Parts: sequence; C-alpha cells; structure tokens
Amino acid sequence: MPLQFLASVYFDGLPPWFPDPMRLLRAMTTLTAVVLTKWYASGRVNLSERNMHGRVVLMTGGTSGIGAATALELARRGAQLVLLTRQPPSDPFLVEYVDDLRARSGNRMIYAEQVDLADLYSVRQFATRWIDNAPPRRLDMVVLCASTLVPPGGERVETAEGVELTWMVNFLANFHLLGILSPAIRAQPFDREVRIIVPTCSSYIASPKLDEEAVVTGGRDDLEDWVPGRAYARSKLAMMVFAKAYQKHLDAYKRPDELPMNARVVLVDPGLARTVSMRRWLTRGSLWGLLLYLVFYFFAWLFLKSPHMAAQSVLYAAMDGSLGRGAGGRLIKECMEVDCARKDVDDEEVAKKLWESSDRLIERVEKEQAVKRARAKKEQEKKEQEAKEAAQVQEIEALVGAIKKGKSKEASKKNTKKAEFTGNTQPELFNPSHCHPVFFTAKLRRPPFNVLSGAQLSPVAYGYVYQDAPGGSKKSAGPRL
Ligand SMILES: NC(=O)c1ccc[n+]([C@@H]2O[C@H](COP(=O)([O-])OP(=O)(O)OC[C@H]3O[C@@H](n4cnc5c(N)ncnc54)[C@H](OP(=O)(O)O)[C@@H]3O)[C@@H](O)[C@H]2O)c1
Repeated sequence: MPLQFLASVYFDGLPPWFPDPMRLLRAMTTLTAVVLTKWYASGRVNLSERNMHGRVVLMTGGTSGIGAATALELARRGAQLVLLTRQPPSDPFLVEYVDDLRARSGNRMIYAEQVDLADLYSVRQFATRWIDNAPPRRLDMVVLCASTLVPPGGERVETAEGVELTWMVNFLANFHLLGILSPAIRAQPFDREVRIIVPTCSSYIASPKLDEEAVVTGGRDDLEDWVPGRAYARSKLAMMVFAKAYQKHLDAYKRPDELPMNARVVLVDPGLARTVSMRRWLTRGSLWGLLLYLVFYFFAWLFLKSPHMAAQSVLYAAMDGSLGRGAGGRLIKECMEVDCARKDVDDEEVAKKLWESSDRLIERVEKEQAVKRARAKKEQEKKEQEAKEAAQVQEIEALVGAIKKGKSKEASKKNTKKAEFTGNTQPELFNPSHCHPVFFTAKLRRPPFNVLSGAQLSPVAYGYVYQDAPGGSKKSAGPRL
C-alpha cells in the first residue's frame, strides 16, 4: 500500500487531496516550535530519589499549586506529612483533600494541623505545641510552600494583628515558625539529615532594599505608594536573607555530641507555574481578567509550568544526596545549584538588621495581642457572670411568682372568708421583698421528701450527693442527703 502510494506520487505527482507541501512544512515547523517551547518552558525533571519512609515532613502550602504537587510526590515515597493549613482539620473540604491525597498516594500517614500564617499567635500555638512534646518529635524536613500575593492594582491588606499581609504570610510567619522550631531542629540525632526547604521567586532580584523601618512596621512606611509586586518581591528577598542567616544560626550551634550540624536550608526557585497565585496575578483578580486568561489559555499552557513540573526543583531539594553534604543555604533552580543574583542576600549586616527588627516587630505585636486577648477574656468572663446572675434572678422571680400565685390563692380564699365576715372584698397584696430569695431557692431546690423514702425522684437529678448518716444507727443506715 505505501509502496503503491509512493510509486503513484513518483509517476503521477501528488494526489489532489494532499495538502500544499509549503503549507505542510510551515505547519510542521510551527508544531515543532510549540513542542520545543513547551519542553523548554516545562523545565528539568528531578532524577534524584531518596527513601522517604518514616521521615516526618512539616509543610505549609501543601493544599494548592506547587505545594500540593510536592506533597503528593513526597507522600507517594512514604513520607509522613503534617500539612500546616489555614483551615482547621475538621473543615470538610480539608478532610476531603487529605482523604484524596491518602488515596492517590497510597499513604495513610498524612495529617493536617491548623496554622494560619496570617496570625502570629496561631503560628506560636502550633510551634510551641510541637516543641513541648517530650520526648522531642522526629522532624526530617520543613517545606515552606505557602505564600500569598495581592494582584496588581490591589489594595494593601493588613492582618488582624496589623501587619501587612504579604510580609506576614511570605516572611514573618516563616521567621516566627522556624524561630520557635529551632530547638526541635537542632535536637535531631546526627544520623537524621534535616532539610528546611524555602521556595523563593526570581522577583526578589527586583526587590527594593530591606531598610529597617519598613521591616519593623511591617511595611507601613509604604502606605502611600505601596505596590503589590514590590511587596511580594521584598517578602521573597527577606525570606532569602533570613534563610541564609538561619543556616548560620544552625551552624553556630554546638551539639552536645560535638558532631557537626546536620540540618541544612535549601532555597528553591521553582520557576513560573500555572497556580492559583499566578492566575490571580495574571487576571488581576477580576472576572474580565479570568475571561481573557481562558481565551488565551494556550499561551499560559505554553510558557508556564504545570504545578507538577514546578515541583521538580522542590523535590530535587528534598531528595538529592549532594544537598545533604557540605554547606547549607544553596539556591536550586531547574534541579541544579545556581548563584544568587543579589549580593545583599549574603550580607550579614542586612541579615542582622532584618533578624533583630523582625524579632522586635513580633514581640511588639504579640504583646499587644496578649493584652487584647486578656481584655477580651475578662469581658467574656464578665458577660458570662452577668448572664449567670440574670438567669438566677429570673429563676428567683419565677419561684417568687409561683409562691405568690399559691399564696394569693390562699389569701384570696382567706380574704373571701374575711370579706364575707367583715364585708371588705379587697384582696391583700403579696410583697416578695419580704421573703429572702436564697431562702426560697434553697428550700425549693431541696428534693421532695419522698425521695428518701425510696420513691420516684432520684436526688442525683437534683445535683445532690448521698452521704452516710453521721452516727446513724444501723437500722437507719439509709443514705442521707
Ligand atoms: N506559582 C509561581 O509561578 C511561582 C513562581 C515562583 C515562586 N513561587 C513560589 O512557590 C511557592 C508556592 O507557590 P504556589 O503558586 O504554588 O502557591 P499557591 O498555589 O497560591 O498556594 C498558596 C498556598 O499557601 C497557602 N496559604 C496562603 N495563605 C495562607 C495562610 N494565611 N495560612 C496558611 N496557608 C496559607 C494556601 O492555602 P489555601 O489552600 O488555604 O489557600 C496554599 O496552600 C510560593 O512560595 C511561591 O512564592 C511560585
């Protein structure tokens, strides 16, 4: 058949249905260009493997995008995942997500713990719970994939604690979390290779400098000309500077066994990917933007990585053997080590300023929040006390009302008799203030007399506890109230 076709082409030329060769060539060239562009834009695939069975991995941002793809791959390799999520573990969507992740990875050891990275108190609560555990918990890896960004043109947002949101989620929460977890990380036995993986973004190259005032106030100096892109880039630069400083902090620790530090920080630039943040950024968070995104989706597909491909460098950082040896604080991009594009990432003076000012900011915010919480607690207690008292008053009034009803019935009977005798038919008014309310409640709360004679009502139903009769005879040994 092919031979016949080739012979006919040779002798009679191309059949009429065959497309124009030039057009075919152009189509083939275009297709090849698309395939090559897609292949190039998708980046490199991680080829490193490591047995993850039994390794405990703490992970932020594991519910979406690059973090979700990383979580799936680590779970497939047997890691025990603790996802630090904004929602509580009882959230139905989260329950479904964790179940799905367990089913897809065939790994049951996936859990969720609530840590809202927009809330320093939430971070502290989780981290202190973790380090308070005795004996110290196993911890092999911390993957910090969570991040947030405000789309271009968006308004500056502050957290309930008054810190700028991008700065808080992308940097300060991680600073706080790693700061508190530091003893747990340093206490890991020497044979355990600990890694702290910090995804970053090449936008850090264009970030403004980390001047102290901006940091201490959580970016409040920016109030006038705050720009989302600049805030995101600055938070990423701060995270890189801190990551390098954190490695030095770990290295400076003298282990009781005198062995070298076994925990290493690895920075990762995953590349641009089609994730929720990226979509929000491209669409500017608007419906028109979303429509345009859908219309031109082909270009997003062509030039941006899938979350799975973006996760390859993170997986490389988690599993490549070479990163467990030598110095920490290396930057990984496309599954290989690259240099940082800014000198101030390694600047100790910048790192010191950042560390100290972040510490001060956290201390100030936590103090303010502690005072607020104490006040709110007091208010709550006061409200509860008032409600309790109001309920008591209501109860007393009800009882008084009941007695008044009974008495007035009796009185009306008497009055009728008296009136009948004296000829005065006006009833006497009952005054409840004559009766002590406690007396009434105590009396009326006492169980009916027939309880002791073993009749229908249980005294337990009244909140009383049985007691043996003091010095009671054996005959009357029945329990007494
Ligand atoms: N996508 C890119 O093109 C790109 C490029 C360079 C670098 N990166 C970096 O790669 C990492 C992952 O990015 P991504 O695009 O995959 O992110 P993403 O899909 O937008 O996911 C963000 C994650 O962060 C979590 N998160 C946000 N705010 C939180 C909060 N207050 N408390 C707790 N969790 C919170 C989200 O949880 P919910 O599910 O509850 O929202 C979600 O799991 C980030 O560090 C990012 O900077 C991404």
